[in-house]
Amino acid sequence: MNKKTKEIIRAPIVEALKNACENPTYQFHIPGHTKGGCVLPEFRALIGNKALCVDTTDEFDNLGTLHPATGPVKEAQELAAKAFRAKRTFFLLNGSTAGNLAFGMGLTRQGQKIITNRNCHRSILTGLIISGAEPLWLTPNRLEEWGLWGSVDPANLEEMLENNDDVGLVWITNPTYEGVMSDVKTIAAVCKKYQVPLVVDEAHACLWNFSENLPTPALQFGADAVIHSLHKTGGSMSQSSMLHIAHDSLISTVTVEKALKLLQTTSPSMLLLASLDAARANLESVSGRKQIECAVSNAKYLRREIDKLKHIHHLQPASGYETDVTKVFIKADGLSGVQLESILEIDFGIEVESASDIGLLILSNIGNSKKDIEYLVKCLKKIDKSHYIGIHEDKKFMPMLEPVIKMSLREAFFCAKETVPKSEAVGRVAAEVIAECPPGIAVLLPGELITEEHLPYLVDYGFIEVVD
Ligand SMILES: Cc1ncc(COP(=O)(O)O)c(C=O)c1O
Repeated sequence: MNKKTKEIIRAPIVEALKNACENPTYQFHIPGHTKGGCVLPEFRALIGNKALCVDTTDEFDNLGTLHPATGPVKEAQELAAKAFRAKRTFFLLNGSTAGNLAFGMGLTRQGQKIITNRNCHRSILTGLIISGAEPLWLTPNRLEEWGLWGSVDPANLEEMLENNDDVGLVWITNPTYEGVMSDVKTIAAVCKKYQVPLVVDEAHACLWNFSENLPTPALQFGADAVIHSLHKTGGSMSQSSMLHIAHDSLISTVTVEKALKLLQTTSPSMLLLASLDAARANLESVSGRKQIECAVSNAKYLRREIDKLKHIHHLQPASGYETDVTKVFIKADGLSGVQLESILEIDFGIEVESASDIGLLILSNIGNSKKDIEYLVKCLKKIDKSHYIGIHEDKKFMPMLEPVIKMSLREAFFCAKETVPKSEAVGRVAAEVIAECPPGIAVLLPGELITEEHLPYLVDYGFIEVVD
């Protein structure tokens, strides 16, 4: 772009909200705090007057509505669809969770077979409980030394589709929380071959669309629909996400829209919707793209520096899988991930995304500066040279067990239950979803046999709901 040409990227909800804020009306509608007129002074001091003024919902002040999408909201969704190369984009409140629930409710039905990876997020499982569809588990590869799930094998998917001619949907997660990628190009081709729609939970990958240095997003490989947690890595506010339907999708936009209408709030926060609008506009802009390249180069720098350390290692692409460079999973010899997390937090004031018994996850964010990463590197160098005494971790964090299924998910969820002490739960059939966040991956699902192997994942549980 010519330096003198001013970049114009529209953000209709942001513009409408600014206009409403600058031209206040006498307000006799929700939200009752009425532009902050009655809030606790400490709260006002914390978040500021402006935040209270823009905390409003749809229908008022010419801001448009979410269901159905009208006015600036409609326009913003259209701009997002264009930016993400989708036929239609829906803004989600209640995160990508809302999108997965809508897919479950709208696209699957009682008894229908759905192929999904065992390490899917709990919101997919909730979607299946709502509809009563039956998951056929696609088991990913295990990265044993990292205690992580790896990629799913397209050949396994093809075999499942070959053996089940009544699969309603393939619903995979890519990348994993820790950035391990599956071969979505081949997976999409397999789905096309069997004419089964493909939904990709791309909650952790909303940046990919905006950089040549990041992986190719699933929509470009032919996925029928995807979700993105813009709030996770894209710069929007917590809870705000997007759902995209592909051009030429096998999935009905109307069906998804209807499900969203039933599931989403009827009082959407304009602040959250504006933050989605703003995040999309920022990611498209020259400065947003620079932020993404900076996150990539910071991550590469961090990885190069970790390569020089003796006792700290990072998860890298290997044969069979690629990774998203911005998600840096590390482990330290002799320390559990939880211990390393505590050292970083208590001794150095650093907070990471998550930690497990094996390692921890660092996100190189678009909001991080090179200085942040340099400080992190400096601290890791100190830890590498210190002699911390490791304590054995009793608790396991990443469930990687083969489920023994005794009853259907929905049937077990809604059946008569009793709550028993954990010590008496082995041998019984689970009646609740146990999927700690992060990563929100199932340890146990309703209908699954509880075994001794589950116990290390249930350290924090005194009691468990089982089928009566
Ligand atoms: C793979 C995956 N999908 C969906 C979700 C739900 O996203 P949200 O927190 O935006 O509701 C998460 C949350 O961590 C996730 O990891």
